[in-house]
Amino acid sequence: MNSTLDLQDIDAKLQQSSPQEILEYALTQHQNLAISFSGAEDVALIHMAAQIKPGVQVFCLDTGRLHPETYEFIETVRKRYPIELSILFPDAEAVQKLVNEKGLYSFYADNHQECCGIRKVGPLRKKLLALDAWVTGQRKDQSPNTRTNIPVIQNDRLFARPGESLTKFNPLVNWSSKQVWDYIRAESIPYNPLHDRGFISIGCEPCTRPVGPGQHEREGRWWWEEATKKECGLHASNVKK
Ligand code: ADX
Ligand code: SF4
Repeated sequence: MNSTLDLQDIDAKLQQSSPQEILEYALTQHQNLAISFSGAEDVALIHMAAQIKPGVQVFCLDTGRLHPETYEFIETVRKRYPIELSILFPDAEAVQKLVNEKGLYSFYADNHQECCGIRKVGPLRKKLLALDAWVTGQRKDQSPNTRTNIPVIQNDRLFARPGESLTKFNPLVNWSSKQVWDYIRAESIPYNPLHDRGFISIGCEPCTRPVGPGQHEREGRWWWEEATKKECGLHASNVKK
């Protein structure tokens, strides 16, 4: 297990590295690592990782509320790349209880934490118990309110097994949205067709909408909530208490 100080040194070096170099480092250090793939532009990571380690583990949290285009896109990615893709489902009883007690759109009234907790965070927690490291497509420019300080490498204390360490890598942190899209186009990487219809940041269908000119991409997510709360719990450490 790396100490916090070691990790800060490694992070300082990785901050100067390209996403490909960061992935190489992550895949060399951790055999039991998986990439979390949301069905959006973080497919760029899969494209890179599949070249470094064919058969790399990838997982998607299927909340049951994704857009049809996202489901189709996930299948496009499964067919295109030599990856081991797992689709993770929420606990059926928990979803049933929530929906029967509060309806299918409780998040508009109650805020999104409860539904995200059941549909995303629960399955993520279960998956991470079986991993030593995970990789996300988070970037600093995705959210001026919650993501400007995320490191490339961090100890994920929130989801680690008791007494063990779980490392979280964010190889795209220092890439802008434009860099990701230049890379996707240059490498002919498939992408979610919703991006051609004004969607930038894509999550669940009822909680995502396209953004207009001059709006930040995060404004299309949970638009009825305050900007500082716009994390669903997957990356809760980004939110200041
Ligand atoms: S969220 O927390 O607001 O939903 P966002 O959509 O910005 O996250 O995505 C950031 C990263 O979180 C993605 O690049 C991906 O690594 C991970 N992620 C988000 N949603 C999912 C999902 N449904 N399945 C797997 N990973 C996800
Ligand atoms: Fe539920 Fe919306 Fe969160 Fe999806 S994004 S899990 S629908 S609250």
